[in-house]
Amino acid sequence: MKTLYLIGFMGSGKSTIGEMLSSSLRVSHIDTDHMVEEVYGQTIAAIFQNNGEGTFRMYESEVLKNTPLQNCVISTGGGIVEKGENVLFMKENGVVVYLETSFDEIAKRLEDDQTRPLWSNNVQEKKDLFIHRKKLYEKDADIIVHTDNKTAIEITEEVKALL
Ligand code: S3P
Repeated sequence: MKTLYLIGFMGSGKSTIGEMLSSSLRVSHIDTDHMVEEVYGQTIAAIFQNNGEGTFRMYESEVLKNTPLQNCVISTGGGIVEKGENVLFMKENGVVVYLETSFDEIAKRLEDDQTRPLWSNNVQEKKDLFIHRKKLYEKDADIIVHTDNKTAIEITEEVKALL
């Protein structure tokens, strides 16, 4: 099986669905955020604070390039699509699945979240980032699955049916 790359905004369920999808397909699962934290020995929040977003993006690309090209589900960070080289890599090597979630649903899910440096306190900034990203996800995806009002099992089955 070609590797599946899950893309989508923060809080769209990439980690949860990646976990479920990989066990259902009996392949391995990698979460690029977790790998960055493991390889570089700092939390994402600490990397942003100590080294800045540019460094985080460099680490993220490095980690992505070292993931398996076969038999794997990769849950990416929401900003993976900010770099053209990452998009090229994913499109060339596997299937890109966009988990689409509405802004209102994301805002509900991340209401008390303090772990994501780019989920700011300013509502307009959040909306602007969401609109900017949505365009990238739509452009880059091979498959789009809507996730609002669905259970994780339903979403997982829907992705599987579309492969
Ligand atoms: C980011 C999303 C986060 C994490 C980092 C930056 C983004 O991942 O990679 O905080 O730029 O959207 P999740 O999408 O898993 O929250």
